Amino acid sequence: MERMLNIALPKGRLGERVYAMFEAAGYPCPEIKENNRRLIFENRELGIRYFWVKPSDVVIYVERGAADIGVAGRDILLEYSPDVYELLDLEVGKCHMAVAAKCGYEDDRSRTLTVATKFTNIAKSYYASLGREIDIIHLNGSIELAPILGLSDVIVDIVETGTTLKENKLEVVERFAEISARLIANKASFKFLGERIDLLRGKLRDVIGTSK
Ligand code: PRP
Repeated sequence: MERMLNIALPKGRLGERVYAMFEAAGYPCPEIKENNRRLIFENRELGIRYFWVKPSDVVIYVERGAADIGVAGRDILLEYSPDVYELLDLEVGKCHMAVAAKCGYEDDRSRTLTVATKFTNIAKSYYASLGREIDIIHLNGSIELAPILGLSDVIVDIVETGTTLKENKLEVVERFAEISARLIANKASFKFLGERIDLLRGKLRDVIGTSK
């Protein structure tokens, strides 16, 4: 028998949307919708196994081969540069990476800029490309608080609708990267299970095409 194809999905709202795409592509696993605590689901007939993973951990599972394929945001791919193949833009979970600050903030280029973010590497490479010296403050969430409380001058964060910024009287200074969910594959898995993975990629591509 063929071995199970292991698929890491990001837990949460985006993951549910992504699972619906896999289902529409012909890879259903109905139990997944009935049980909200279990983490692993199998469809033995199709030879697939899904598991729910914290979104930022999907790349770890795929890079190390615990998952053959998975779905990760481009933000996570840019931040961690995992050694995986990026196979397809799923065109969901669209948002962008931006610099934001208090409304009316004016940059003083003569001094070091303090930047609060969850995305340390993305922020560093963005400001390096501008030749701007920065001081990074790594936070794990509620990044929007930092400029309000004077912890940082600006933040680098994901903006989707812009509501969080608006509600906290912050504004976008610069958008610099477009983000969406990507199908990724472990490099060795892609070599050995290439045909099955390619078939799945093609079916997902059709689902994206018909939803346009
Ligand atoms: C992200 C981001 C913003 C918010 C932006 O947080 O950090 O806080 O979404 O969305 P909006 O533009 O639609 O308001 P997320 O919900 O991922 O959780 P986090 O606070 O753990 O980062």
